[in-house]
Amino acid sequence: MSKQISPIERSQFLNLFRAVAPYIYQHKGKTFVICLGSDIFSTKYFDNLVYDLNLLNSLGIKLVLVYGVSLPLTPSERVHKNPSNDPRVIDLECLQVAKVAAGNIYYQIQAAFSQGLPNTPMSGAEFKLISGNYITASPKGTINGIDYQYAGKVRKIDTKSLIQALSDHMVVVVPPFGYSPTGEMFVLSEEILSSEIAVQLQAEKLIYFVPLNQLPRGGSEKSAFSPCQIPKLLESMATDIPNQQIIQDYLLVSAEACRNGVSRCHLLPHSEDGSLLLEIYTHFGIGLMIVDDTISYIREATIEDIGSILKLLQPFEEEGILVKRDRRDIEQSIHQFSVLDYDGMLLATVMLDLYPQERTAEMACFSVAKQIQGLGEGKKMLQHIEKRALELGLTSLFVLTTQTTHWFLKNGFHFVNTDWLPLDRQKKYNPLRASKIMVKSLVEMA
Ligand SMILES: CC(C)(COP(=O)(O)OP(=O)(O)OC[C@H]1O[C@@H](n2cnc3c(N)ncnc32)[C@H](O)[C@@H]1OP(=O)(O)O)[C@@H](O)C(=O)NCCC(=O)NCCS
Repeated sequence: MSKQISPIERSQFLNLFRAVAPYIYQHKGKTFVICLGSDIFSTKYFDNLVYDLNLLNSLGIKLVLVYGVSLPLTPSERVHKNPSNDPRVIDLECLQVAKVAAGNIYYQIQAAFSQGLPNTPMSGAEFKLISGNYITASPKGTINGIDYQYAGKVRKIDTKSLIQALSDHMVVVVPPFGYSPTGEMFVLSEEILSSEIAVQLQAEKLIYFVPLNQLPRGGSEKSAFSPCQIPKLLESMATDIPNQQIIQDYLLVSAEACRNGVSRCHLLPHSEDGSLLLEIYTHFGIGLMIVDDTISYIREATIEDIGSILKLLQPFEEEGILVKRDRRDIEQSIHQFSVLDYDGMLLATVMLDLYPQERTAEMACFSVAKQIQGLGEGKKMLQHIEKRALELGLTSLFVLTTQTTHWFLKNGFHFVNTDWLPLDRQKKYNPLRASKIMVKSLVEMA
């Protein structure tokens, strides 16, 4: 029995696969450190998460999984009813419970990764896990008169062995323990441990799962924040959200990791099926991302950008908003293009066609990818071009537009007749298209 793929399914599949392809390429060979808090092992979608981790591994991503265990309260914490007191005192009883819990979780992870995954596209795939004494720790010691006993802090990470295991295509599993050169064992906080490993490995991503369905964004629509925006985000967050302390800790640790060279940190809702894939392989993701400010910037185009510029312009040309240009046109004028580079993806462009004698230039091919329109990027591109025009000594900018007059009016352009255009441009004006000509004076800005 054979069933043909319908045209809609075919186009949906092709669009989806093509949209994901750049991310697959971008992440291949990169290291992701993933912190698995103790709550995640009992969530409904844990098996799906393991499946997704397998998938990432098969797509060439190097994975370090750092896990945590839930600890019993010490007698003093029971008396003071202060379970969220951090750092925790780890007494001997607590250490024993942590060891048993960590062993159980390790076997649970091994079992989950060893599933045959029948009837799934990962069927037959085999992944090897590895663990070891990668972490040297020392006791946290006595702080303000409190002896933290078996609570430890990271002293050294055996980065060489971790890198070796990752190059051998192993998934590295790190329990929340460190060992002292005298043979003692200390319990470590998994969020700090994962962040320190990510920093040492200069990982591409550090990922935390937060025990929430949806992440608070402090009233902002944004999902990406720079480390310096985190204090403000924390201030603006509602104070009554569940697990607020955990979110706050993760955000602060992430901001620190980012400052120390981890490219991106992500907080994902742990009970959302597929949150890992949605975050990594879609543009806007599903969680909160903490990233260095330099993720999005406007730069001059190079010949490597030609394919992406063509792709960006195509939908607007098909809608008749922009005049069609072929590869050759763009190749010849590539040095007149500016582009918005967002995390390696090209999401907006504009070309400056100079008329030096008239001290003006045409803004052509001005376009912002549909998925980010309305977020102010068009305005930023215009400001960039204005600055560039001023540096070139120009006194005005003009555009020819059929459908976007209101945007330009709002941004300081006014209508003029064809006579206004430089003579060379007048000759190329297509009356059939009947574009409106709009000009912005730069004189007041100079
Ligand atoms: C025009 C364009 C470049 C603006 O980029 P953008 O990033 O969406 O713009 P911004 O976010 O800076 O500005 C958004 C504002 O412009 C408005 N806007 C967007 N497109 C508009 C249009 N075609 N006409 C009128 N207003 C428009 C939005 O409603 C929004 O208004 P608000 O601030 O009141 O909410 C983008 O919409 C685009 O690429 N359009 C298709 C190509 C095009 O028309 N190019 C110009 C041809 S010369």
